[in-house]
Order: sequence, then structure tokens, then C-alpha cells
Amino acid sequence: MTDAAHLSPRRALITGASLGIGEAFARRLAADGWDLILVARDAGRLDAIAAELTGRYGHRIETISADLSTDDGCAAVERRLVADPPVDMLVNNAGISLNTPFVRSTVEDEARLLRLNVLAVLRLTHAALRPMIERGVGTVINVSSVAGFGVPMPGSTYSASKAWVTNFSESIGLSVAPLGVRVMALCPGYTRTGYHERAGIDMTGTPRWLWLRAADVVDEGLRDLRKGKLVSVPSWKYKLAVAGLRHAPRRLLRSVARDTRGRVGRGDD
Ligand SMILES: NC(=O)c1ccc[n+]([C@@H]2O[C@H](COP(=O)([O-])OP(=O)(O)OC[C@H]3O[C@@H](n4cnc5c(N)ncnc54)[C@H](OP(=O)(O)O)[C@@H]3O)[C@@H](O)[C@H]2O)c1
Repeated sequence: MTDAAHLSPRRALITGASLGIGEAFARRLAADGWDLILVARDAGRLDAIAAELTGRYGHRIETISADLSTDDGCAAVERRLVADPPVDMLVNNAGISLNTPFVRSTVEDEARLLRLNVLAVLRLTHAALRPMIERGVGTVINVSSVAGFGVPMPGSTYSASKAWVTNFSESIGLSVAPLGVRVMALCPGYTRTGYHERAGIDMTGTPRWLWLRAADVVDEGLRDLRKGKLVSVPSWKYKLAVAGLRHAPRRLLRSVARDTRGRVGRGDD
């Protein structure tokens, strides 16, 4: 299957499409001519984005209000992924971080994070792949994080969840590529979206040059998809950081992590 077939506009389902990186995906894909299915919990915000994009581009835009940390929410989106008209691209973007050290967090909050960041990604990828494989074309982009590159971090469940997303996507991507389907992990660094504020994470000390724009993350992710990459790390500064992380001695990474013990929860991305 050609690159053009994978990226020629048809229908994309985007989770977490009401804000941040997911909204940037919706805006970019709508501008590129895609019909969209937008998923998040806030139905009002989804409807407002759908109305704006339909008005501007005239595409068909469906919305699904669903909490993907719940069984019912995942099931509603799974039903749409196997229905007609078919979904050609799935963007698993919805994800959360917690601003609490593991020992002070509740099992319920940690499990909710895993249900959204891991279980929903697994379920929706599984539901999307079968019809894509039957048609011999389709794309899944799973939004992960540079935090997933094996760094011991204060927000341990978050970085572990993203390590899973990256490894899972790369592994599944390899196995389905011969069947005409692509799966790619998109691993941004700090991206200005309001995500940290919503998680109550104080980012005031983070240097401005480290921040990425959501639209640039999406543009670079789609460029990497076109190149056939299995893992995309937007921006040269985070490519360098990831290369360093991959080669740095484990002992050094652990000592950096120990030094950040007081800043629990901060810097999860
Ligand atoms: N921002 C960063 O610095 C950064 C860096 C690396 C990776 N990431 C990853 O990028 C992805 C998007 O992050 P973002 O910064 O764009 O986040 P964001 O601005 O906080 O947006 C999160 C989106 O997910 C939706 N969402 C949250 N909980 C949900 C749930 N239980 N069910 C369904 N939808 C839910 C939100 O809408 P509702 O609240 O209406 O549901 C919203 O549309 C996440 O996976 C995140 O881990 C972000």
C-alpha cells in the first residue's frame, strides 16, 4: 500500500479531540480534507469544534461523548470503529497524568490512569485493526510521550504507561505493516496545551525553549508517518534527548530521578 493511500483523506477517529494535541489533529486533518469522528467526555466542546470545522470545510463530522476510562465508554467507541462507513485512521490521543507521588496516590486514581492511557489504547487499537486488515489499508497513531523512553520518573505510573504505549505500538506496527496497515507511536515532549495545569502540575520553572506547539507536534507526526516511521519524536531537541536517554548509563538516570524526588509529579512528560 502506498504512502498516498495511507494519507489520502477519508475518515479519522480522534480521541481526546476537544483540547490540546487531539484538537490540533482534528484541525489539521479537517484542513487536509478528512471526515472526522471526535471523541472526548465534554459533548458541548466537541459539538462546538464540529460545528466550526463543518462550517469552514463542509466535512461530515460525528461526535461521541465517552469516558474512555470506563468499560461503557470504550465499548461505544469500539462499536463505531467496526461500523460503516469505515474508519481509515485512528488517533489514540486521550491521556492523563497525575500530580501525586505513587505512595500518596489512591489505587483508584492510578487504575483510572492505566484504564485510559493503556487499556483504552489496547481496546481501540484492537477494534480498529481487524477492519483495516480486511481492507488492506489503515493507520493507527498512538500518542505516547518522551517520558516513555525508560526514564525512572516521579509520576511513575504515567511514564510506565507511556513506555507501554511506545513498545506496544512499535511491536504491533511491525507485525501489521506487511498487511498494509500502519501503527505509529507519536512521542511528544512538553507541549503547550493546558494539560499540566489540568493535572495541577506546576511548570513555571520549565524553560520556554523546551515547549512545543501542538500543531507542530501533529505536523511532524504526520510527516514521520508518511516516511513509514514506527516511532516519531517531534523536534530535534527531543530527538537529541531521547538519543541521550537511550545511551546514558542507567545509574546516571537513577541519580537524576533521585534528585527530582522533591518535585513529585512534575516533569512527567
Ligand atoms: N501536553 C504535553 O506536554 C504532553 C507531552 C507528551 C505527551 N502528551 C500526551 O498527549 C496526549 C494529549 O495530551 P494533551 O496535552 O493534548 O492533553 P489535554 O490538553 O489535557 O487534552 C486531553 C484530551 O483528552 C480528553 N480526555 C481526558 N480524559 C478523558 C477520558 N477519561 N475519556 C475520554 N477523553 C478524555 C480531554 O477531553 P475531556 O476532558 O472532555 O474528556 C481532552 O480532549 C496525552 O496522551 C498525553 O499524555 C502530552
